[in-house]
Amino acid sequence: MTQRNGTEITKAGREDLPVLAETLFASKIGRKYYPTLETLLTLMERSFDDDQFYILYDHTEMAGFIWFQTKGAFHTFTYLHMIYVKKEYRQKGYGKTLLEFLEKAALCPEGKNKLQSKIFLVVGEWNQSAIQFYINEGYITLSTIPGLFRKKIDEHLMMKECFRA
Ligand SMILES: CC(C)(COP(=O)(O)OP(=O)(O)OC[C@H]1O[C@@H](n2cnc3c(N)ncnc32)[C@H](O)[C@@H]1OP(=O)(O)O)[C@@H](O)C(=O)NCCC(=O)NCCS
Repeated sequence: MTQRNGTEITKAGREDLPVLAETLFASKIGRKYYPTLETLLTLMERSFDDDQFYILYDHTEMAGFIWFQTKGAFHTFTYLHMIYVKKEYRQKGYGKTLLEFLEKAALCPEGKNKLQSKIFLVVGEWNQSAIQFYINEGYITLSTIPGLFRKKIDEHLMMKECFRA
């Protein structure tokens, strides 16, 4: 799907997963949550049939990616597993572009047109810049879950209601 400014969002193939895993594992968030690159890659490979992976290209370069499950929250709503924009591409609107893409996908799960939907995600309390990013894009914090994935890391459960324009 072609976006503005010469960027394009393309569905990732199974063959793209090693690059996505390497990119994520090279980052602070990747190392915080996944013990090894192999663990992360295995998780992505096991998720591939049920989850959606899309890559945002700036011309031919991968600028970022998004990983979500359309019925991952309460078997009904979209769950955003991960959004990642490479450091050199941040603060240029790519994260926002990926979230807009996610909203369109949430409103059209399995080809159905919905008038409204909800997107859920969790984000670490330590990740204040991502929390601010989500707030800027209309997400609200519903609660904080202590030690959800890692004993010492509390997670913000966030949600956005989205509507067909
Ligand atoms: C969070 C992340 C995806 C944001 O991507 P980005 O491309 O830099 O974001 P954008 O340029 O699209 O910014 C969108 C909005 O969020 C704001 N924003 C982005 N990063 C921000 C930051 N570090 N601090 C405060 N606000 C921020 C922008 O100012 C912008 O606001 P506006 O629409 O009012 O102008 C990116 O920083 C990233 O990949 N971080 C590492 C991975 C991560 O933490 N992912 C979240 C996992 S839960």
